[in-house]
Amino acid sequence: MNSKNDKRVVLAYSGGLDTSVMIAWLKEKYELDTVAVLIDAGRASGLEQHRQKALDIGAVEAHVIDAREEFANDFILPALAANALYEEKYVLVSALSRPLICKKLVEIAHASGASTIAHGCTAKGNDQVRFDLGIRSLDPSLEILAPARDWNMTREQALEYAAERNIPTPLKKDSPYSIDENLWGRTVECGPLEDPWLEPPEDAFAVTTAPEAAPDEPAYIEVTFAAGVPVALDGKPTPLVELIETIDSLAGANGFGRVDMMENRLVGIKSREVYETPGALALIQAHKEIEDMTLPRELIHFKRPMEQKFADMTYNGGWFDPLMDALRAFNTETQKRVNGTVRLKFYKGSCTVAGRKSPDSLYDFGLATYGGEDAFSHDAAKGFCELWGLPLEVWAKKGK
Ligand code: ARG
Repeated sequence: MNSKNDKRVVLAYSGGLDTSVMIAWLKEKYELDTVAVLIDAGRASGLEQHRQKALDIGAVEAHVIDAREEFANDFILPALAANALYEEKYVLVSALSRPLICKKLVEIAHASGASTIAHGCTAKGNDQVRFDLGIRSLDPSLEILAPARDWNMTREQALEYAAERNIPTPLKKDSPYSIDENLWGRTVECGPLEDPWLEPPEDAFAVTTAPEAAPDEPAYIEVTFAAGVPVALDGKPTPLVELIETIDSLAGANGFGRVDMMENRLVGIKSREVYETPGALALIQAHKEIEDMTLPRELIHFKRPMEQKFADMTYNGGWFDPLMDALRAFNTETQKRVNGTVRLKFYKGSCTVAGRKSPDSLYDFGLATYGGEDAFSHDAAKGFCELWGLPLEVWAKKGK
């Protein structure tokens, strides 16, 4: 670690208006020199441009970090092993990337000797919680600044602040939406979506085709899992990042993966959220299917509620909580025999399992069949029912 440099602040920089203004603000208000960090967790564009922009505004250093593989291996895979869905719908796009970003920020802080980290979150969202808790878990000695939480600038005021200091304002034409995206999907908030009665306008979507405009023929893909990890598509071994991207495009092109939900934020607000998560939802569905085929009943029944706990903890900023280490270890243990292939069918907005097979399948044809090859012990069933129902019978005999 370099010697401490109390004049340096590592900023989670997005290239957007707020974090651009922040570089100047941190200097003016705290006399801090910004080390800007841009993290690519997938689906990022214009990173080099943004890096240059940070330097132009006055950052003393600006780094672009390609963290796609790390995101896929260390964050998406544990979430997939947990079939993690917040409130049964949200695959945790932003919630999963924040701990990754925290890790990178803390690494850069250590490398540059900075004693402060700044992030661009506002007071109303979950992301501030994830940043604050993530950074404090990784290095409690670091100072945390969240200028946008303190300054209370409206968008107009931020634009004015930028104009007065020659800070370039957004290159792209103003979108009414607030977007966050990575390999696991895309989140869309604000603008017209703040009216929960209004159907999301088509321009809110970028990676999914409207189901009604999707192809008239279904599309199939086979996903193979080894120890719970998706490793091949249509029999072809595929590196994880590419595998996620491929299934994401196919599912999205067939109109699958749009989510429109009322969501409970940790900070107490109910909000209307729109997500595009075709690949993530398809992979979770396929993964669950192989689990259903290969895991015994008690294990599955115990694991499902643990999955909800995992999702809640992730959503609420608890990625580095020791309980999460324990849950991840539990999930890893459960995945040993989660091997097999699922055939998914996409058709005009739906994703269904069309077939599944596994070398570790617990499906036993002889036990399941109603045909001539039946190997199930019919004789044992009568006694089983007798004893299973015994407490109920004793209770019933006592009357009301
Ligand atoms: N509601 C989602 C969550 O809390 C999405 C947040 C999107 N974040 C953003 N900065 N636009 O995870």
